[in-house]
Amino acid sequence: MKKKEHKFSFEVYDSIRELNREDAALLEEAKKITVNAYAPYSRFRVGAVAILASGERISGSNQENASFPAGICAERVLLSVASSLYPGVPIKTIAISYIDDNGKNKSDHPISPCGICRQSLLEFESRTKQPIRLILGGAKGKVFIIPEANALLPLAFTSEELK
Ligand code: THU
Repeated sequence: MKKKEHKFSFEVYDSIRELNREDAALLEEAKKITVNAYAPYSRFRVGAVAILASGERISGSNQENASFPAGICAERVLLSVASSLYPGVPIKTIAISYIDDNGKNKSDHPISPCGICRQSLLEFESRTKQPIRLILGGAKGKVFIIPEANALLPLAFTSEELK
């Protein structure tokens, strides 16, 4: 028997003020884009803004449905926008923010992508052969920077298995 270890490291900033200007601006945009969310059921609005390798900026927000499983997260909306409008163009960075209108959570800490979004981010990275950097923050509070989205999904199931 062999034991394998998987190392995961990411950056933790005390607030958006510690970020460089470009990263801070992207996270601010993600916060603003939460207004486009359609989240009448969860009242949890998520916004994502990306910079592509070509320099374009695109955004996504969560879009829910009365048939709950038909809802889609902000991250996967954004990935669909990217590959529909700019097919084949890698994504450099995605900033993700949220506002919890329930007020239970004060939107004062980062959230990280759900499991399905991790799977989609990983496949986008492998399709475009470039890692996606993630900037995660709430309306206020700490900010996490994850250098490569694939680090969030060790031992992933990939297209390699289907060849
Ligand atoms: N959601 C996202 O859009 N992104 C995440 O990273 C986590 C959750 C959405 C899905 C649903 O519309 C609402 O937030 C509550 O789960």
